[in-house]
Amino acid sequence: MKTFEMRTAIHFGDNALGRLKELPYKRVLIITDPYVVQSQMIDLITAPLDAAGKEYDIFCDVVPDAPVGKIAEGVKKFLQYMPEAVIAVGGGSAMDSSKAIREFALRINNYGKVGLIAIPTTSGTGSEVTSFAVVNDTEAKIKYPLVSDTLTADEAILDAELVKSVPPAVTADTGMDVFTHALESYVSTDHNEFSSALAEKSIEICGVFMLRTYLDGHDMHARQKMHVASCLAGLSFNTAGLGITHSMAHQLGAVFHVPHGRANAMLLPHVVEYNSDITKGSRSQKEYLPAVKRYANIAHILGLSNYNKVMSVHSLVNWIQFMQKEMNIPQTIQEMGTITPDAYFLAVDRMAEAALQDTCTACNPRVPTKEDIVKIYTRLWSN
Ligand SMILES: NC(=O)c1ccc[n+]([C@@H]2O[C@H](COP(=O)([O-])OP(=O)(O)OC[C@H]3O[C@@H](n4cnc5c(N)ncnc54)[C@H](O)[C@@H]3O)[C@@H](O)[C@H]2O)c1
Ligand SMILES: [Zn+2]
Repeated sequence: MKTFEMRTAIHFGDNALGRLKELPYKRVLIITDPYVVQSQMIDLITAPLDAAGKEYDIFCDVVPDAPVGKIAEGVKKFLQYMPEAVIAVGGGSAMDSSKAIREFALRINNYGKVGLIAIPTTSGTGSEVTSFAVVNDTEAKIKYPLVSDTLTADEAILDAELVKSVPPAVTADTGMDVFTHALESYVSTDHNEFSSALAEKSIEICGVFMLRTYLDGHDMHARQKMHVASCLAGLSFNTAGLGITHSMAHQLGAVFHVPHGRANAMLLPHVVEYNSDITKGSRSQKEYLPAVKRYANIAHILGLSNYNKVMSVHSLVNWIQFMQKEMNIPQTIQEMGTITPDAYFLAVDRMAEAALQDTCTACNPRVPTKEDIVKIYTRLWSN
């Protein structure tokens, strides 16, 4: 038996932030990152709360990639304030930090149900609807996803007003994160009809609107579409899981602070090739691997279909690389120019070990060995 469940009520479209006036809570803790406060974007959140006479406090010390030390600070603040609900405002880092803060605080003092409202300010992670919170153990230099239904937000508010300030580089990285979520969940061994439908729609939107948001951040139609695509992809992978692009990207984030979406974008063409095993001379079976047909379907949705499935997969790889180039995402670690070869190759073995243990590896369509992962990290350096 399989179960498909959506636990989060999603408010979207014009004036979605108006929902804040109607929240059934009087005392809320806003958890966000410093940018949201410094840019005064926070006013878009506090104005409806003020209008509805709600009490609030703000924890605005979230930093990228949700390091455990910052989560501990947030837990302290949460336990001092004892809110009825948390409002998470920000990218994946703020939403994941909020999820972890509420989870750990209630394990220390479970004073009753505390709601969670997630308001994304990037169109990328889909964290507003997932039961994942990716945290960063900065001492061990490992990023790993916590997975539990108790982490899931009660409500998500998708208001594209909040994403129009996202700079082009972050728009590119987060857009590719959306695409990677949809693609990995689509080929995952745990995919089902519901997750596939969500992924297909998300990919269709990425095909039309991702580049538009990069080229013109004030194209509000495109921003709105990508905000929804991000959420659709989140719903998809929440039930179907992801794959080794994410397992490997988590390590690049933990060890070298490569932004999450950027790491995914760089790894994705290599992982598609690995999962389909169609590169010349490398095919080990007579029959094509199951992912080949699924990737070919995606190529079809993107309007790339070719006269056979293998050509379609090659077209998909080319499309991903084309998007990378158009959005100025480096294709290799060497091209990034921030990591020395010595540091990189010294870390590869340990990153491969950690990637193999990452939860996302379990539903990758091809079962990788450590050597396979080392090979992909090696190709990523300069291939
Ligand atoms: N929980 C999940 O399901 C899930 C899924 C994928 C990724 N993640 C995690 O999410 C994190 C990445 O999240 P992200 O890609 O959204 O990036 P982020 O939250 O780290 O934000 C990236 C940068 O963009 C800035 N920013 C955010 N919104 C902005 C706006 N509207 N205008 C201008 N700047 C803005 C932030 O201040 C930050 O400097 C990673 O830790 C990743 O592992 C979680
Ligand atoms: Zn991701």
